Amino acid sequence: MASVQIREAKEEDCGDILRLIRELAEYEKLSDQVKISEEGPRLVGYGLYYFIYSTWKGRSVYLEDIYVMPEYQGQGIGSKIIKKVAEVALEAGCTQFRLMVLDWNKRAVDLYKVLGAHDLTEAEGWHAFCFEGQAMKALAGR
Ligand code: ACO
Repeated sequence: MASVQIREAKEEDCGDILRLIRELAEYEKLSDQVKISEEGPRLVGYGLYYFIYSTWKGRSVYLEDIYVMPEYQGQGIGSKIIKKVAEVALEAGCTQFRLMVLDWNKRAVDLYKVLGAHDLTEAEGWHAFCFEGQAMKALAGR
C-alpha cells in the first residue's frame, strides 16, 4: 500500500477538499446537493514579465505571458495586470514595455490597443525571428 499521511487540513487544502466533497457526493449519487464553492483568495490569472535591454530605449520590460481564466475574463482583471506591469516598468526606470501576440488573437490585440499600445508590425513592419534547435546548433558548429 502506498504510504499515506494523515494530517490536519490547512487553508490551502480547500480546493482539494472541495474536490473530495464532490467525489463523495457523486459516489452517493447526490451531486446536485453540493452547493458550496471555494471561497476566499484564489489565483485566477497571471502576467509573467522580465527585463530586457533596447539599444534605442534602454531598460525595458517584456511581458511574456498574460492569462486570465475564462470564467474571469471580461471583468477588467487583464487590464489591471497590464497596468501593474506598467507601474513596475516605470518604477524600474523603463520607458516602455513590449509584448508579442498572435495575429488571430483579436481580443487580446484589441485590448492592448485600447490600453494605448501601438502595433510595431503595422507601424514599422517588424517580424519576429527565432533561431532554435538544429538551426541554432548548426550556427554554433555543433
Ligand atoms: N472576453 C471578453 N472580453 C475580452 C476577452 C474575453 N475573453 N478578452 C479580451 N477582451 C477584450 C474586450 O474587448 C474587453 O473590453 P470591454 O471590457 O470594454 O468589453 C476587454 O478586452 C476585456 O478587458 P479585461 O477584462 O481587462 O481583460 P481580461 O481580464 O479578459 O484579460 C486577456 C484579457 C488576458 C487577453 C484574457 O482574455 C485571456 O487570458 N485570454 C486568453 C489568453 C490570451 O489571449 N492571452 C494573451 C496572449 S498574448 C501574451 O501573452 C503577451
